[in-house]
Amino acid sequence: MPRVTYIEPDGRAVTLEVASGRSLMSAAMEAGLEGIEAQCGGNMACATCHCYVQPPWLEQLPPPTEDERLMLQNVAAEWRKNSRLSCQLIMRPELDGITVQFPERQS
Ligand code: FES
Repeated sequence: MPRVTYIEPDGRAVTLEVASGRSLMSAAMEAGLEGIEAQCGGNMACATCHCYVQPPWLEQLPPPTEDERLMLQNVAAEWRKNSRLSCQLIMRPELDGITVQFPERQS
């Protein structure tokens, strides 16, 4: 199964196996990671699943939709060029090894 490394706000790295087709948000929530809230459950209505996609993975991802782009304007932490909503990042085999960092706060 492809793996995702999540970097928690305290700098701790947690690597999880995430099935293809599953969102990075959903796997992080199930594992109880601290850096994510995902209050809306993946409906793109909260922006509390914000993450920073680490290089070189950003280029491997489909660009954000217009809705995601708009929702990214509501993130609580600093917006950066590599900001994405993890509920919109869907695992696939080519993303094996992707690393995302959670910001210091989500709300
Ligand atoms: Fe709410 Fe991603 S979980 S926008």
